[in-house]
Amino acid sequence: PVVVVDFGAQYAQLIARRVREANCFSEVVPSTMPVGELLAKDPAAIILSGGPSSVYEEGAPSLDPALLEAGVPVFGMCYGFQSMAQALGGSVEKTGLSEFGATQAMVSDTTSTLFNGQPDEQSVWMSHGDSVAVAPEGMRVTATTAGAPVAAFEDDARRLYGVQWHPEVMHSTFGQQVLENFLRRGAGLAGDWTAANVVEELVEQVRSTVGEARVICGLSGGVDSSVAAALVQRAVGDQLTCVFVDHGLLRAGEAEQVEKDFVDATGVDLVVVDAQDRFLSALAGVSDPEEKRKIIGREFIRVFEQAARDIVGAHSGADDHPVEFLVQGTLYPDVVESGGGTGTANIKSHHNVGGLPDDLQFKLVEPLRLLFKDEVRQVGLELGVPEGIVWRQPFPGPGLGIRIVGAVDRERLDILRAADAIAREELTLAGLDRDIWQCPVVLLADVRSVGVQGDGRTYGHPVVLRPVASEDAMTADWARVPYEVLAKISTRITNEVREINRVVLDVTSKPPGTIEWE
Ligand code: XMP
Repeated sequence: PVVVVDFGAQYAQLIARRVREANCFSEVVPSTMPVGELLAKDPAAIILSGGPSSVYEEGAPSLDPALLEAGVPVFGMCYGFQSMAQALGGSVEKTGLSEFGATQAMVSDTTSTLFNGQPDEQSVWMSHGDSVAVAPEGMRVTATTAGAPVAAFEDDARRLYGVQWHPEVMHSTFGQQVLENFLRRGAGLAGDWTAANVVEELVEQVRSTVGEARVICGLSGGVDSSVAAALVQRAVGDQLTCVFVDHGLLRAGEAEQVEKDFVDATGVDLVVVDAQDRFLSALAGVSDPEEKRKIIGREFIRVFEQAARDIVGAHSGADDHPVEFLVQGTLYPDVVESGGGTGTANIKSHHNVGGLPDDLQFKLVEPLRLLFKDEVRQVGLELGVPEGIVWRQPFPGPGLGIRIVGAVDRERLDILRAADAIAREELTLAGLDRDIWQCPVVLLADVRSVGVQGDGRTYGHPVVLRPVASEDAMTADWARVPYEVLAKISTRITNEVREINRVVLDVTSKPPGTIEWE
């Protein structure tokens, strides 16, 4: 793989994605990983990410010079660039000239490894207080900016490269070209990796992990679990039983849709479990988001365990095998954001990673855990999963439970379900399903405001519309839904859902907001 060393920036995942867009497989590792362990991954190239620290600060994550001497091509970005400079004997200083945001970079050699084929002036995204003042010996400076006399350096002999800016963000106009130049020209990578062409490999891995054992898969109706199930079915056929848990936190019509769309298309063995009472009583009175997520994760597992016992009971025969494995549609961003892949902070415990109980009775099969969402869609299409499922908008496993700010109960769920159904219907009618990534509707259950309806005063709750545009849910922008569509949704919700007297629009990007409110 191309190994991305994470120096604590939210950018490492994005870099990993950009590398895959260049058709090279990538993996994120924490900067604390010992060099020996990292090199054991047999990296084809190494990328050092940006990070929030200053290289000469006490306790700043450091770069082991051995990494630069292993003969593997290395590309440093921002903090990674500075830590390379420092490790190689250059100097990093606070020059007094910080740069944040779009900056012009002057390229001195447009035939160099990184800048070949690009103009001699390009807009780059900067975010630094420190600068490399003197380039290390043997490094050729190939770009400068007003605030950074050494804004890029290259050494083809040792195959070491770096830029002060963030080529991975869209605002760096030629960022992707710079990255691809590093991968192709610097590291000599052909770039023939695609998610679709690893399907057979993934199937083979599942087959050898699972052997003869029985497997169950929690199906949510979403893309991830559906594709994971289809993959496992391809691998082990009817050793797989899918379990759809109705936890009472579903949107209107969801259970029916899963049964119809997915089972019709794949013929998979499906069991539907009505577990509404169990989830709602476990959640009663709980309003802390992390606690909700943990409870939901735990209850999911308990329900699966029971389902597994029932399945074994149903199949009991002399040669039958117990249910040993649980399939999860965990994706790479979940792994990284739950702190599993890197040293980054735990932002949310996505229910299928951080929410698992310690005494889990199953071994996990997570065939998608190294893939990003768009790649999962490619895999799904390759496996023949219907487009209606492959292109379905994401819906979180904890469902409406994390879209009620406050405690969750049946009444609140009914209110939210009604509002959500209206918003979805209108967005679909307006033809916006593919333009927006998803549109959570969030009930602020503990907030009330005064309104007027007919001749009377109302004292109801607000709902928040959270339409977002995104490529992969790691970053997102609020979606510019046309005013007429918003007006229609607002009018209908306040008319048709008695308890709601206000509809507000969330205009926050991610970061700093996340997509869901909890
Ligand atoms: P956030 O809120 O972290 O959401 O910006 C990113 C994407 O992940 C979905 N999401 C989840 N999906 N289990 C899931 O399966 C979860 O616990 C979970 N939490 C958030 C969210 O809908 C968005 O698409």
